[in-house]
Amino acid sequence: MRNVIIEKNHKIAPDIYEMILLSKELSHEGFPGKFVNLYLNDGAHLLPRPISICEVDRENHRTRLIYAVVGKGTKILSSKKEGEKLKVMGPLGNGFKIDEKIDRNLVIGGGIGTPPLLELVKQLKGDTKVYLGFRENPILVEDFEKLGAEVHIATEDGSQGHKGNVIELLEKHDVNADSIYSCGPKPMLRAVAKWSREKNIPAQLSLEERMACGIGACLVCTCKINTEDEKWEYKRVCKDGPVFLRDEVIWE
Ligand SMILES: Cc1cc2nc3c(=O)[nH]c(=O)nc-3n(C[C@H](O)[C@H](O)[C@H](O)COP(=O)(O)OP(=O)(O)OC[C@H]3O[C@@H](n4cnc5c(N)ncnc54)[C@H](O)[C@@H]3O)c2cc1C
Ligand code: FES
Repeated sequence: MRNVIIEKNHKIAPDIYEMILLSKELSHEGFPGKFVNLYLNDGAHLLPRPISICEVDRENHRTRLIYAVVGKGTKILSSKKEGEKLKVMGPLGNGFKIDEKIDRNLVIGGGIGTPPLLELVKQLKGDTKVYLGFRENPILVEDFEKLGAEVHIATEDGSQGHKGNVIELLEKHDVNADSIYSCGPKPMLRAVAKWSREKNIPAQLSLEERMACGIGACLVCTCKINTEDEKWEYKRVCKDGPVFLRDEVIWE
């Protein structure tokens, strides 16, 4: 557990906040797809909230998080003041595996699953296409563009980019790639799994499950995972994941 200083905590879009944490260790250990457990220091909300690492700046010891205010915990988080200390556990989880020999990367994000893909795109080698889908109000688009990636947007309300979902946009553009990395809501991940199987492109998917301990002890976050002998077993999204290979995931 680390006690880290909040350098910044402010609204960047409706119900979306950016938090910058100052910690040399956190920034040095933060890899794409890993997450941190944030303790709210509030007697009524003892369980930590898992939030993905969006970006790290190792030189200046900064770790950037982007979070949506959806319930009581994230509401409390949004009220934390700059300069305050926050108890943080992590970085936790396995993260994405980057194969530097891959030429054509395809990164697919959905909604508030988009933030962890930013540090990933920073670290990917080769050509990277980014496809992002939102219900409305896209976030982080300029951040991805600044990294030199080719960015395409789909919004359900048609306010930006393609009107519809991100899979329709991938089909419209007849996209091909050597490797897919994806994070987003379960229905989107399931559609990415189906699309990537049809296109025969390997995919890593970052799953999101409700969590309690976040360190593999309580088994709240288990999901069914295929094993090599055509059987299945329960794995913990917090400890064994959150990133799994497409063909490991059993969709229920
Ligand atoms: C690995 C991982 C990474 C995540 N990264 C981000 C991120 O970068 N940005 C972001 O906005 N959100 C992220 N989430 C979702 C975020 O953790 C939840 O939105 C948040 O915990 C909700 O807390 P709450 O108290 O506001 O909501 P409530 O619904 O009141 O939460 C009640 C309880 O359920 C748990 N819980 C609720 N929703 C989720 C959820 N979706 N996943 C896990 N636990 C949940 C809470 O931790 C808490 O213990 C991530 C979740 C996981 C599992
Ligand atoms: S949240 Fe407790 S085992 Fe995953």
